Amino acid sequence: MARETLIGQHVHESGVLALKTFIQNMPKAELHVHLEGTLEPEHIFELARRNSVALEYKSPEKIIEAYDFTDLPSFLKIYYAAMNVLREEQDFYEITYKYFEKAATNNVVYVEPFFDPQAHTHRGIKFSTVVDGIHRAQREAEANLGIRSNLIMCFLRDLSAESAMEHLEISAPFRDKLIGVGLDSDEKDNPPSKFSQVFRKARSHGLKLTMHCDVNQQDIVSHMWECLNNIDVDRIDRGINSLEDDAMCREISERGLGLTVCPVSNQFIVQSLTASEIRSMLEKGMKATINSDDPAYFRAYINDNFTAVQEAGNLTREEIVQLARNAFEIAWIDDSEKRGYLQDLANYVSGAVDRKP
Ligand code: ADE
Ligand code: ZN
Repeated sequence: MARETLIGQHVHESGVLALKTFIQNMPKAELHVHLEGTLEPEHIFELARRNSVALEYKSPEKIIEAYDFTDLPSFLKIYYAAMNVLREEQDFYEITYKYFEKAATNNVVYVEPFFDPQAHTHRGIKFSTVVDGIHRAQREAEANLGIRSNLIMCFLRDLSAESAMEHLEISAPFRDKLIGVGLDSDEKDNPPSKFSQVFRKARSHGLKLTMHCDVNQQDIVSHMWECLNNIDVDRIDRGINSLEDDAMCREISERGLGLTVCPVSNQFIVQSLTASEIRSMLEKGMKATINSDDPAYFRAYINDNFTAVQEAGNLTREEIVQLARNAFEIAWIDDSEKRGYLQDLANYVSGAVDRKP
């Protein structure tokens, strides 16, 4: 049953609209967002003009029309091609700061963003150009928007382990600007164990470890066991297929490992928002979280992801809060900062604070 309010909105007696507002205003952490995946079509257009990069599209709308992804490789092809417009420190600053502005309107208070240095150094862009631009935006976002962040450097798994090791070495002078390392790009025939040495070395430098375990990829369950047993990851990015293996679910929940699930992105790749899988993870005590992945491409920031998954799975308010709480619990921050965020969330839930974007 729905009734129409004076302002014309439909208020469902189930409280769907109220839950959407509750999600919108809830303080959140985002732990799985690729900065290059926040490059909006208008910005691609503007940067192409500014950097004299030829584009085959006549307008930002035409760029969106080309977003025809049906699987991971078809997405990655478009994602890497668009990056060609990123050239200067200012460009990396802008994508990062624009993302933070958007995140602020989504009431995100803490972020651990990814970046893909090899996708830039392989085009002749200096590592320092990339990191300096991102870091300047991180500092300004903290000062101006109150959003704290810690950066994760991803290696491209379809490139060699030698290239990953070389980039770990190049990153040495910037170590204080990184919290951890991740692994992304095309998973097919690129198992975690290919990068054992690189990740061991990263760990010895005090960096946290995470890896993409993308949904329904070939050999995904054995890749996930490698993440657990060979790499000893601190977190898993996505990880939906763990549900196929009870022993793996037990291991993940006993270790308290977080899973950064990306519902709208999953929908593009496997035509499902994976809402029932997310609920199963919560029921098994696994620390699942909701994230946007590549929001400019999948046309959905974090609140859209929460709302889509809530509606698809009819998730309760308690389940929504648990997902948000998990993100703060698995964040790579010290305990006092964690307690502060969790207290802010608890205050919000108990109605003590009514955050507005
Ligand atoms: N790079 C950017 N987004 C990615 C994703 N969802 N999976 C793997 N690599 C990525
Ligand atoms: Zn991702």
